[in-house]
Amino acid sequence: MTRTRYSTAAILLHWLIAGLLVWTVLLGWQSEDLKGAAKIAVLQLHKPLGITIMLLTLLRIGLRFVYPAPPMGEHLKPWEMKLAKSVYGLFYLLLLVLPFSGWAMVSASALIHQYPINMFGLFNWPVLTPLYELPGELRHARHEQLETIHGLVAKVIIYGLIPLHILGALKHQFLDKDNELAKMIPFLAKKDAAA
Ligand code: HEM
Repeated sequence: MTRTRYSTAAILLHWLIAGLLVWTVLLGWQSEDLKGAAKIAVLQLHKPLGITIMLLTLLRIGLRFVYPAPPMGEHLKPWEMKLAKSVYGLFYLLLLVLPFSGWAMVSASALIHQYPINMFGLFNWPVLTPLYELPGELRHARHEQLETIHGLVAKVIIYGLIPLHILGALKHQFLDKDNELAKMIPFLAKKDAAA
């Protein structure tokens, strides 16, 4: 039977990752305006949230193989399908690259053992030792490069992918009126079925 909406697990993961992403971005931005202990406190929460997003994204990609996504509406033009597929693909890729760049960045920091990636008081996330063990100046240079990459990838997601994704969803709902959104918002599907 062809699926008409995403699996419940995929829907839960989508909204959980979206919520965590907003929270993690807000903390990242906040840290830019702070200094000293306040900055460290904010980043100590930002880091495990980012790692959680990375793990949930891996789970989401794995689940896609078990429960394939519902097919895209046949009324969509080829360019719309291509754009939607590219945005989804880039989302998955960058939601792994962004946290990985953060993990690599802090692994190349001289302060990583003083301020480890503490997973909500449960355990410390491992350090990428090949980066930590680089000689002092090289490690510092890597840290700077990874910080630049982290900031750039975050901008691509925040100012590129998220607006495109939301605009696409709004276009379906209000211009095409094709109810594509119901695949990810079960509440809309119920309303539709009752109509
Ligand atoms: C999807 C997950 C993540 C998102 C959305 C995210 C987002 C951001 C954003 C928006 C900033 C501010 C950058 C700027 O304005 O230039 C930032 C900074 C930062 N992020 Fe992340 N991040 C994520 C994951 C991680 C992870 C996993 C770590 C480390 C384990 C990390 C460590 C940091 C650090 C240390 C900074 C501050 C850099 C500095 O200015 O010193 N991030 N992040």
